[in-house]
Amino acid sequence: MSGKIAVEMRVNGETVRAEVPPRMLLVDFIRDVLGLTGTHIGCDTSHCGACTVLFDGKAVKSCTMLAVQARGHEITTIEGLARDGELHPLQRAFQNNHGLQCGYCTPGFIMNAVELLNRNGNPSEEEIRFHIGGNLCRCTGYVNIVKAIKEAAQGR
Ligand code: FES
Ligand code: FES
Repeated sequence: MSGKIAVEMRVNGETVRAEVPPRMLLVDFIRDVLGLTGTHIGCDTSHCGACTVLFDGKAVKSCTMLAVQARGHEITTIEGLARDGELHPLQRAFQNNHGLQCGYCTPGFIMNAVELLNRNGNPSEEEIRFHIGGNLCRCTGYVNIVKAIKEAAQGR
């Protein structure tokens, strides 16, 4: 017996199937098995938010979950946001507002902001800052990230 467990889930709209070790983290499954390396690992201890993806539409830190816990669920990663070659409005707003420098934290911020704007199309600055409280950025000082999220909300 291999000790592996069969998993099947939808990722960015496609059904994926694989056999994984029972203790494989969802972030490692996304990056190493599916090759979707836009989801980053910054800390591996649930602090930085670089690994944030949508899990049935809710933002989750994918280093805090096992791949087997995603069986039968719908995952969206940063690679799943653009449509027909067009950036998602949040991706465009981050670009327009210089909401990134090294970019390491950016996929996590954007996925978290997608959840916020799906829930609240017109968040206040305070609500934006509260919502992104679990995402860390070592470069930007957050001002342009908040501006980008506001611009994306206004453009919806
Ligand atoms: S890598 Fe998951 S929170 Fe930092
Ligand atoms: S842009 Fe470098 S960590 Fe955020």
